[in-house]
Amino acid sequence: MLTTLIYRSHICEPFPTEALKEMVAAANAKNGQAAVTGILLFNGIHFFQLLEGPQESVFEIYNHICADKRHYNVVELLCDFAPNRRFGKAGMELFDLRDYEKEDVLQRILNQGTSKYQLLYDDRALHFFRTFVEATEKENYFEIPRPDSWAFIPEGDGVTLEALPAGIAANCSFAFQPIVDPLAQEIVSLEALIRTPCGDTAQVFFSGLEDDALYEADLRSKQVAFRLAGELNVAAQTLSVNLLPMTLVRMPNAVDFLLAEIAASGLIPEQVIVEFTENEVISRLDDFTNAVRQLKAAGIRVAIDHFGGGFAGLSLLARFQPERIKINRELIRDVHKSGPRQAIVRAIIQCCTSLEIRVSAVGVEQPEEWMWLESAGVSHFQGHLFAAPAFQGIPAIAWPEMLTEM
Ligand SMILES: Cc1cc2nc3c(=O)[nH]c(=O)nc-3n(C[C@H](O)[C@H](O)[C@H](O)COP(=O)(O)O)c2cc1C
Repeated sequence: MLTTLIYRSHICEPFPTEALKEMVAAANAKNGQAAVTGILLFNGIHFFQLLEGPQESVFEIYNHICADKRHYNVVELLCDFAPNRRFGKAGMELFDLRDYEKEDVLQRILNQGTSKYQLLYDDRALHFFRTFVEATEKENYFEIPRPDSWAFIPEGDGVTLEALPAGIAANCSFAFQPIVDPLAQEIVSLEALIRTPCGDTAQVFFSGLEDDALYEADLRSKQVAFRLAGELNVAAQTLSVNLLPMTLVRMPNAVDFLLAEIAASGLIPEQVIVEFTENEVISRLDDFTNAVRQLKAAGIRVAIDHFGGGFAGLSLLARFQPERIKINRELIRDVHKSGPRQAIVRAIIQCCTSLEIRVSAVGVEQPEEWMWLESAGVSHFQGHLFAAPAFQGIPAIAWPEMLTEM
């Protein structure tokens, strides 16, 4: 299938014109052999390239391009299918924007088009050309440093409890994972993640439980989370716990139970955040929003977890506004390389800024993901890059240390 791929990137070192020409000649020959055509724009700092051809060949060439050390911050903007080639003349034609007048450069590029019909503005691919040529998206090109410009070194050993505090029902336990502000080197909050008594995952704990038994187990487990947190001396730190939305709706006096257990563990409601997963909220939304009101009235704050992971996110946000949303790992993964993920995350941040909702990013594993998100305005992160969950303990945190000048 005829595949179109567009990306932009940032040049590492200024290219002598000769070297640029040589690169284009080599690329042209290679693309020709693979039936790939396209056009490359260069503005002195950024490259912008459209590649068209059979899907496998386009992806193979793009993989080589991504690994090329002559440019960095390669961001895929579009990957789509089309009935015919827009630029079918050459394997790769270079268009140096500095050689043309700003007013007519776009038309000149379009004149290179080989589509049967005149290339029209009403085409996503061509809109990308226009925004690049007119530089209207330039403020969103976050030029993040190389991943090796930071080191992540765990500080200290963390703390672990040998056993659960005496006197509590022990059909479950918890691991704790910090949410951090890496640049301020601060722990923003600790999330309590449910485990079986021997450390197996939440799925194992909840497997086989249904309906009221499930909600009952979910609610009762919070006693263990609060007691462990009290024992681990979380002091004034914020503590996040997960709750199934229907637990709040179906269990009578759930809020009273939570408040009593918070107090018995030496904590206060204002330091507790209850996290709900977006797509579990969708059924019985009215009952759920009522229950959330009770939580908030008691001083407990609310967060939407895995935001963007389901289909309920935006309509849920229109119904009630939590104190915090946690952007789902699916949107965070490789965000530095993906134009669509970048656009969605920027929109979430902008929306939450208008609503004074704090945004954190979950599942951060790569330095580049973190750096891109910091540039976009996120400052709270949770993920293995900084700290993995520690069973019945609080892990050491790997704060980023800058190694090279940016
Ligand atoms: C901005 C830019 C655009 C490039 N475009 C192409 C291209 O369209 N086709 C191509 O084969 N190589 C292109 N290259 C060169 C590749 O990155 C790579 O050097 C080439 O495919 C040889 O790869 P190899 O040495 O791994 O075989 C481009 C490089 C840069 C920096």
